[in-house]
Amino acid sequence: MSDLFGVAGKRVLITGGAQGLGNMIAERLLCAGAEVIITSRKLEASQEAAMALQAHGKCIGLQADLSTADGAVALADQIKALGEPLHVLINNAGKVWGAPLESFPDKAWPDIMSINVQTPFTLTHELLPLLSASATTGDPARIINMGSLVGHVVEKRPAFSYAASKAAIHHLTRILAAHLAASKITVNAIAPGYFSTRMTASMRCRPGRQAARNRT
Ligand SMILES: NC(=O)c1ccc[n+]([C@@H]2O[C@H](COP(=O)([O-])OP(=O)(O)OC[C@H]3O[C@@H](n4cnc5c(N)ncnc54)[C@H](OP(=O)(O)O)[C@@H]3O)[C@@H](O)[C@H]2O)c1
Repeated sequence: MSDLFGVAGKRVLITGGAQGLGNMIAERLLCAGAEVIITSRKLEASQEAAMALQAHGKCIGLQADLSTADGAVALADQIKALGEPLHVLINNAGKVWGAPLESFPDKAWPDIMSINVQTPFTLTHELLPLLSASATTGDPARIINMGSLVGHVVEKRPAFSYAASKAAIHHLTRILAAHLAASKITVNAIAPGYFSTRMTASMRCRPGRQAARNRT
């Protein structure tokens, strides 16, 4: 029972792990004994972040643009080419678009739905053989999708496509969990509240927001 939640020796892919929440997750998993692969759109950024994370364990950085399904397939090909097992896929990379309803642009939909919903699906699809190969009844492979509280509750921030994409990834998670249970792969979603990252920088700049935060 003591290692029920142990990750020592597991190989974990975290999309977008060069910064933000993905980077925080990478650090904690490395400290717990996992090997981690992180990605960034910029090879240099992923390699620099991986070098810093190496202080905690074995970490490598890959380049991946996950704004299209082709980009997700290309990342899966890089992972397969490493020739190592894969135990955990964390679909963390994501994007937000905020604008008032009156001026919310059409182009804010395809981008956001692609990286927040379609890419996790495509990566799951492409990496299934690797994940299946490392899965056992007692120790299933894991897929973790990054959702959000705003996929559950209505909040005032006008991020229409983002909130819809997070609700979509929550439901896609349920569907994939049902489909993949028989393959010994669990699929779960995390729905974080607010974290101070680059994604939430614009929220911190809103008048009154910082004062309100300082009061808490
Ligand atoms: N911060 C919060 O309060 C919060 C709350 C709920 C959920 N989340 C979710 O947590 C996840 C991480 O967000 P974060 O807060 O850590 O924001 P962040 O610091 O802006 O990180 C976003 C990550 O996504 C990657 N990314 C963005 N566009 C990409 C693309 N086209 N191709 C490949 N990678 C791309 C970025 O990689 P590069 O820039 O290095 O290429 C970066 O690592 C997201 O799914 C977000 O929706 C965050």
